Amino acid sequence: MENKRKGKFIVIEGLDGSGKGTQAALLAQAMRADGRTVCQTAEPTSSVTGGMLRDALGGHVKRDAYELSALFLLDRIFHNVNEKNGIRKYLDDGVDVICDRYYYSSFAYQGIDADLSWVMNMNLNCKEILKPDVCIFLDVSPDTGDKRINGSRLEREIYENTETQKRIRARFYEVFGLLKTRENIKIVDASRTVPEVSADIIKIYNELKEK
Ligand code: TMP
Repeated sequence: MENKRKGKFIVIEGLDGSGKGTQAALLAQAMRADGRTVCQTAEPTSSVTGGMLRDALGGHVKRDAYELSALFLLDRIFHNVNEKNGIRKYLDDGVDVICDRYYYSSFAYQGIDADLSWVMNMNLNCKEILKPDVCIFLDVSPDTGDKRINGSRLEREIYENTETQKRIRARFYEVFGLLKTRENIKIVDASRTVPEVSADIIKIYNELKEK
């Protein structure tokens, strides 16, 4: 459902190792300096369902792509409707929300193994799941993402290998093509330096706030 609320809803997407966390923090800093109140959040969330997802992503519990899709959906609905600190509550209060991953990740990650239209329909047709004002996709090659993961972590999650990341990147592009008439998607070359990427993201935010 369209976001007609007071706050802006910005999603940052990308492959593993694309720098989403760093860039989300820099964007939040810039927006706060601009006088906005900002909530930085992420999926999977820290809910009980989010914990189940982390177990599966870490490879500790085996789940198939349909189970994962359903769990991400449940986590996302909770993320939207949770009355204490859900996305909808923040936006209604005039707080801008920056979310690290959202339904685009379900389409690209679960969509490589589960039926893509099934995953898309259950997310896009759920009225509790708000449509972001913009999705900023941080584009890196799977090799670049892989090197960045190597430098920052010891353990790898189930999707974190170059072959799978290649398939996921292709799915992201396919999905962006399918969504281009209904969603505001901006692709940013994230292989550049942190300040260069950040400058582009802040420009996108500045354009959005004029709307
Ligand atoms: P990250 O936020 O540290 O990148 O890790 C989250 C992992 O969860 C990442 O591998 C992508 C995956 N994911 C999905 O597979 N589907 C989803 O819907 C979401 C939100 C994340």
